[in-house]
Amino acid sequence: MKNNIILIGYMGCGKSTVGKALASRNQQIFLDTDVCIEQQEGCAISNIFAQKGEGYFRDLEAKLLQKMVEENANTLEKERENVRVISVGGGLPLREENRVLLRQLGTVIYLKAKPDTIYERLKGDTTRPLLQTENPREKIKEMLESREGKYQAAAHNIMEVDGKKTEEIVEEIRKMLRKG
Ligand code: S3P
Repeated sequence: MKNNIILIGYMGCGKSTVGKALASRNQQIFLDTDVCIEQQEGCAISNIFAQKGEGYFRDLEAKLLQKMVEENANTLEKERENVRVISVGGGLPLREENRVLLRQLGTVIYLKAKPDTIYERLKGDTTRPLLQTENPREKIKEMLESREGKYQAAAHNIMEVDGKKTEEIVEEIRKMLRKG
């Protein structure tokens, strides 16, 4: 079945906040791949990066995604309660095989935000290991430029989020999905 809603996009674009609000509005289950990995490993993402490295974390993400796709394929069409809103870590769509799996798992929506929006939301944040650099503003700009094509390639739909409130984004996504 293909009714899951998958939210992708750069760190700080609002995937988790929008995902939770959308799931609650739709009375669906909400899942966040970062939270699943932290629970599974019993430690924070920043500690996984520090202790085991980024490659190890990326492999965990890929394995989790494969498991979700397998479980989803085993779900009967009529089991509507299994429809979920899934927010995925900002780097998960970077591997090509993950992009293929994401599109199998559901309708993929890219929450697109400008570098300035992201910088304002994430300045002072210490939970994103990739942004603990001297010049996070520049790093965000560079990473977004190199990731943009991959996010677009993974997405069925793109939703611009700059300057919008969570509830507005939720309603726009619901409208977008109703149109098909
Ligand atoms: C990352 C995004 C983070 C987390 C990790 C790496 C990335 O998730 O998975 O810090 O490479 O963009 P969020 O997008 O939920 O912040």
